Amino acid sequence: MKSDNRTLEIRSLEKYYSHGEQKIAALDGVSLAVDKGDFVAIMGASGSGKSTLLHLIGGLTNADRGEIIINGTDISGYGDHDLTLFRRNHLGFVFQAYNLMPFLTAEENIKLPLLGKKVTDSQLEKLLDRLGLKDRRHHRPDALSGGEQQRVAIARALITEPDVLLVDEPTGNLDSVAEEDICQLLRQLCDEQQCTIAMVTHEPAVAFAADRVHVLSDGKIVDSFATSECDNEAELAVKYQQIVHQQKQLTKTR
Ligand SMILES: Nc1ncnc2c1ncn2[C@@H]1O[C@H](COP(=O)(O)OP(=O)(O)OP(=O)(O)O)[C@@H](O)[C@H]1O
Ligand SMILES: [Mg+2]
Repeated sequence: MKSDNRTLEIRSLEKYYSHGEQKIAALDGVSLAVDKGDFVAIMGASGSGKSTLLHLIGGLTNADRGEIIINGTDISGYGDHDLTLFRRNHLGFVFQAYNLMPFLTAEENIKLPLLGKKVTDSQLEKLLDRLGLKDRRHHRPDALSGGEQQRVAIARALITEPDVLLVDEPTGNLDSVAEEDICQLLRQLCDEQQCTIAMVTHEPAVAFAADRVHVLSDGKIVDSFATSECDNEAELAVKYQQIVHQQKQLTKTR
């Protein structure tokens, strides 16, 4: 079904890797649609294909088959040059290992993706304020906590006003207090600014911040549910475990 509000659409995506003689399907026909302002979490066991999916959406690797349509543009046939331009103008990335430049201040890190392009002072101030970084702007990463570094990374991803924010295990290096802070922040960015977010996580507590959870297993989306079906994180954890367990049983009987 076509929706004008659709920011991201993935159709029958396939990606293979060779391991010696063996060809492994990291993604085996994944289809997914995300509307503007939606926040989706992609969960799955280690090796299920989560990062591969995010890297393909982000144009960091090419698919072997299928389509990735972002705001009406199919990037699946793009070469390296076009992908780089597309990434710069339309996508924001947040990774587990913040990936900040150690010799630059928080503010300089945030402005990096602008590549010298000017941003108005009020835009920058608004972002620093929204991310709670105003009094940290002149600190280098080694003088910031993990949670603050991740907030700098989120600000850096948002400064270009991307169509989609791609987030891979954002809280993997954080304690539970900072984890909660980052989850709340992503949720609020979605609610207040209609950010469209696709996030990979192992953690049910983190996935609970999203609107919808898609479960990957062996390169396929095997189930999806709205987080509103769960009253709390614990219920989401149980639901997720049930899906994983069911999937294991199915694989055994195959
Ligand atoms: N560059 C690569 N070369 C070869 N195989 C790869 C490559 N990247 C991923 N794979 C394989 O593809 C499959 C999916 O990997 P992927 O990294 O997407 O899993 P994941 O769900 O992100 O796992 P994790 O939770 O451990 O991060 C795995 O079998 C992995 O070994
Ligand atoms: Mg991964």
